[in-house]
Amino acid sequence: MFKIVNKLEKSYDLNVALVFDGGVEICDHISAGNRDLIKKLIDKKEFSGKKGESLRVDFIEGEHLVSMAFVGMGKEKEFTNDIYREVMFEFLSKEKGTILISSDKGALSNFEVLGEIVYNVNYSFDTFKEKKADKLEVELFLAGHERDITETIVLSEATDIARDLVDLPANVINPVTLAQKVVDLGAEYGFEVEILDENDIERLDMNLLLAVGRASITKPRLIVMRYLNGKDNDEKIGLIGKGLTYDTGGLCIKPADSMFEMKSDMAGAASVIGAMCAIAAEKVERNVIAIVPACENAINENAYRPGDIIKSMNGKTVEIINTDAEGRLALADAITYAVRNEKVTEIVDIATLTGAVMVALGSLTTGVFSNCDEKYSMIEKASRLHGEKVWRMPLFEEYAEQLKSTVADIKHTGGRMGGSITAAKFLEGFAEGLPWTHMDIAGTSFNSSVKWVKKGATGVGVKSLYSYVKNR
Ligand code: BES
Ligand code: MN
Ligand code: ZN
Repeated sequence: MFKIVNKLEKSYDLNVALVFDGGVEICDHISAGNRDLIKKLIDKKEFSGKKGESLRVDFIEGEHLVSMAFVGMGKEKEFTNDIYREVMFEFLSKEKGTILISSDKGALSNFEVLGEIVYNVNYSFDTFKEKKADKLEVELFLAGHERDITETIVLSEATDIARDLVDLPANVINPVTLAQKVVDLGAEYGFEVEILDENDIERLDMNLLLAVGRASITKPRLIVMRYLNGKDNDEKIGLIGKGLTYDTGGLCIKPADSMFEMKSDMAGAASVIGAMCAIAAEKVERNVIAIVPACENAINENAYRPGDIIKSMNGKTVEIINTDAEGRLALADAITYAVRNEKVTEIVDIATLTGAVMVALGSLTTGVFSNCDEKYSMIEKASRLHGEKVWRMPLFEEYAEQLKSTVADIKHTGGRMGGSITAAKFLEGFAEGLPWTHMDIAGTSFNSSVKWVKKGATGVGVKSLYSYVKNR
């Protein structure tokens, strides 16, 4: 799918030269006559290399028909990796076959970013289609020393694992089949997996998780992944992903149009699963525990109800207001489990938690909440590395007032205003003072408006969580 070549041996369907505005150069492998032809065409078409501009030239070289394309990246001093992502995604999406990419500019020969984009272009969820999508083969020409691209490939493959899990429908992925997939991935990539079933979950008093999953024919599972490759006394990072394999809204049922995409309500789970695969494959020297409360928010006569009062694993009683605010309930018990039973030293949770975060930030940017400035900047840095946009949201104490209950210790929703913040505030209460960061990916995990990712599952968070764990 993607590799690096140091020698030009075979012929390609297309030879792409990446150039900055005003910096078009014609490589000296091409005969004098053809260089002349290319120069004339460049003049005639007034091609200079503006962002996204491209120029195609076909010519005979010896006995071969050579197809070339110059692709412009805009002004060198305005260049960013996001421009690279955008232009390359747009350009490669229209191509077929085997493509060679080269540039005399180092910034335009960035194999990490290019590899990521090639995988994005090639990703297609066609498991259930008879006709599978064609895949591009992209080779990047880098003269001189060898480069190790395994990390780039591992990260892209882990992202594809997450995307597939999210794109798979809820009649395939339920709490039990999701747990089985993680068992298989653990064996393949090298991390330990423990699956707690509904009886274990009941014994642990995880009543919020149980309640949310109670009306489904497929009962909840707590999926625990352990990868302990740091020193014994090192920090133990807890990654927690919302694993709602389907969200009907429960008795507070969703309207049909909003329910349609709810197979993606386990995207947070998919992100931590993908991140664990990458962390283990790259043998990152850290201690990481990943936890997925997996359940389905369904409807039957046994469903939990608005008005119910349920005792959480940490002992607080929770008044149920709206059964569609189920994610925070499942997560709350998972956080308590991570803190008390796995003894993590910090928590990052990632969840398709609220429609309100989409009202605030659209589907371009993940809303991030944290009780720790240092951890927030680390998440921001890790996300930026991979072109994933994040923005910090507030957690002022006043917001907690919206969660006061007259009949229980706390209620779990705080009304329409500031909906993503009160959801975060609810979760914060379960972190027991540990550094805690919450990523609300409701907008960014499925059909996002990121220019270099296709519609459907995005795999957002996989690469960011990997780099967050690694770069500390
Ligand atoms: N899974 C949804 C949030 C969601 C909405 C994700 C749209 C992706 C796209 C979540 O469980 C939910 O339903 N939240 C409610 C909370 C409300 C009832 C307080 C919401 O945002 O409407
Ligand atoms: Mn819901
Ligand atoms: Zn949900």
